[in-house]
Amino acid sequence: MILDGRTAEAIDEAARVLRAGGLVAFPTETVYGLGADAGSDSAVAGIFAAKGRPSDHPLIVHVAAGPKGTEALSRFAQPLPPFAQKLVQAFWPGPLTLIVTRQPGVGTAAAGGQDTIGLRCPAHPVAQALLAACAEHGVPGLAGPSANRFGRVSPTTALHVHEEFGDDLLVLDGGPCAVGIESTIVDCSRGAPVLLRPGAISRVQIEAATGERLQDRDTLAAPDPRASGTLEAHYAPNAKVRLMDARAIQTGLDVLGASAAHIAVWARSVPRSRSARVIQRRMPDDAAACAQQLFAVLRELDAQGVKLIWVETPPDTGEWEGVRDRLQRAAAA
Ligand code: TXA
Ligand code: MG
Repeated sequence: MILDGRTAEAIDEAARVLRAGGLVAFPTETVYGLGADAGSDSAVAGIFAAKGRPSDHPLIVHVAAGPKGTEALSRFAQPLPPFAQKLVQAFWPGPLTLIVTRQPGVGTAAAGGQDTIGLRCPAHPVAQALLAACAEHGVPGLAGPSANRFGRVSPTTALHVHEEFGDDLLVLDGGPCAVGIESTIVDCSRGAPVLLRPGAISRVQIEAATGERLQDRDTLAAPDPRASGTLEAHYAPNAKVRLMDARAIQTGLDVLGASAAHIAVWARSVPRSRSARVIQRRMPDDAAACAQQLFAVLRELDAQGVKLIWVETPPDTGEWEGVRDRLQRAAAA
């Protein structure tokens, strides 16, 4: 069932379901999340079951802004190192997740049994209204992975979530997500900031806020295998995604000529095809606009039944890192 998340009735109903240990999908500025009471291990088990996700994959816990959020922080996490506090100051509420050392005995299932926990304070007003209503009733935070089945493309509209889970799941509609790719994840549990997943908040912004060099996941002595969002093949549509430069796309279409079919092209350039059956979508020139559309475009092209999606390789600059990362993973599937 989809309810308009901007109404007080919908927020009350969702908070009631969550308090009773149920699941509710909610909008954030990045993607839609599948929420459960992070303080209840049995409620969190429902998320793993619904997603078909292995239960040792840790989830992100969403907390309210303001004093309730500060309370939740100290409930779930041990005192943050100074550089993590600076990140909270600079980017919360917003599309940034921090991995921090967990308070033993709290949020164990949400953390997938790790001694760390992922915390995020989302900026979306519907998410904030829901988190505030939950905190009001003793639910300190919502465990919430992206509201898709394991390994699939993240949802950026209420309808996408409905397509994944059907009518039994309560979905709060907050419109299309403004950011469109999942939050940047910075591991703050290792003494220095480490980038686990690139997102809308860029490397440059993180380094400016902390005054420290942001380390890379693959430079760690023991690279962290825990983040499913960092699995090689993730974010996969049914169609095969190929990253190609503009010239390779044009050459491919030329070779196939009038018989080209079951192919979609998402490119900043405008390649020519002699086949009317090639589906073309224009990729925005701007990284943020591209991120906003990315998952919706993959879903839409998939729904058209194409076998191949040829995507023009994004520019090799910092602002495109999040988009590039998601596309590379989609192409690796
Ligand atoms: O934008 C987002 O972050 C969205 C919205 C709903 O907030 N959520 C999201 O959740 O992308 P999910 O579960 O699909 O991805 C969370 C990522 C996973 O790759 C998970 O393994 C990693 O965060 N993660 C969570 N807690 C962790 C921890 N303690 N250590 C390492 N990685 C962690
Ligand atoms: Mg996900």
